[in-house]
Amino acid sequence: MIDLRSDTVTRPSPAMREAMAAAEVGDDVYGEDPTVNRLEARSAALFGKEAAVFLPTGTMANLAAFLSQTRPGDSVILSEESHPFHYEAGNMAMFAGLMPITVPDLLGKITPAQVAEKINLIDDPHYSHTTLVSIENTTNRGGGACYTPEETAAIAAVCRSHGLKLHCDGARIFNAAVALDVDPVDYGRHCDTLSFCLSKGLGAPAGSLLVGDRETVHRARRFRKMLGGGMRQAGILAAAGLYALDHHIQELHEDHRRARTFREALEAAGFTFCLPSPTNILYLYVQNGLEAVAALADAGVLMLEHGPILRAVLHRDIDDNALDQAVDICKRVLG
Ligand SMILES: Cc1ncc(COP(=O)(O)O)c(C=O)c1O
Repeated sequence: MIDLRSDTVTRPSPAMREAMAAAEVGDDVYGEDPTVNRLEARSAALFGKEAAVFLPTGTMANLAAFLSQTRPGDSVILSEESHPFHYEAGNMAMFAGLMPITVPDLLGKITPAQVAEKINLIDDPHYSHTTLVSIENTTNRGGGACYTPEETAAIAAVCRSHGLKLHCDGARIFNAAVALDVDPVDYGRHCDTLSFCLSKGLGAPAGSLLVGDRETVHRARRFRKMLGGGMRQAGILAAAGLYALDHHIQELHEDHRRARTFREALEAAGFTFCLPSPTNILYLYVQNGLEAVAALADAGVLMLEHGPILRAVLHRDIDDNALDQAVDICKRVLG
């Protein structure tokens, strides 16, 4: 099977497994896992932040960021296409008591003007106060679009002038950094908190980091425990993360190159894509998504169906050979 459903399907390489097997471990809830401590310090430094906390998933990292920067009854401004609004099972309402204020977006990205328009700080007991803005970089439902540091700075400026915090769901922030040739510090400096995933294009089996100032990360660590995310000898996972940060960031270029090749080959054959694909996520128009996805699966290619659109994600477990095969199968089955 050529699995293009998501970059989350990547499996740890033999070298990553060796690093995991050799990891020095301790009890991380006591702060005694040296490998987790190294991963947290490295992650904070990468984004120019004071501290970081290692969590099992991106979903928990976003939730911990929300919980540690808001109070129940507050409102959060975010894109109507964003992952925390769409795909995190309403957890911000359930566990943080937050009211999402969504804005329509272009490619999953929101603008400073949209944020400014939705902020509510009126001292009137009818209304929820806005305390947080959340952006996503790269955007999942926006076809892997990237915010530039300048766009991030412009949203941060609106947040700061109104006393709001800015969180970035950077599940795929390294895809953005690599695609735009940006030092991650230039994203970190504009966000109060930023989360990133090791378990997607970076190829680790699990784990996400939340970076921010010491006090916010301290609160997030407490919320991680409340949510049941305090892991013990988590150094085995952290070792995979350190290996990924050392070896897999630059390789994301290859996923982006293969995404371009995939798109160009299918466009040349008459297919249409519905969003630009600057990184590794593609959305392909088909007549009938359910039929198309089933026919592709029969022929050995897995994609995700969104109505008349199929999602394909390039990742490190798809080499040039698998890519060529996927293109041939799409042309034959969908043509
Ligand atoms: C943009 C974005 N944020 C957050 C997540 C959540 O990550 P996890 O699956 O580790 O909870 C995902 C997962 O696909 C994602 O695409």
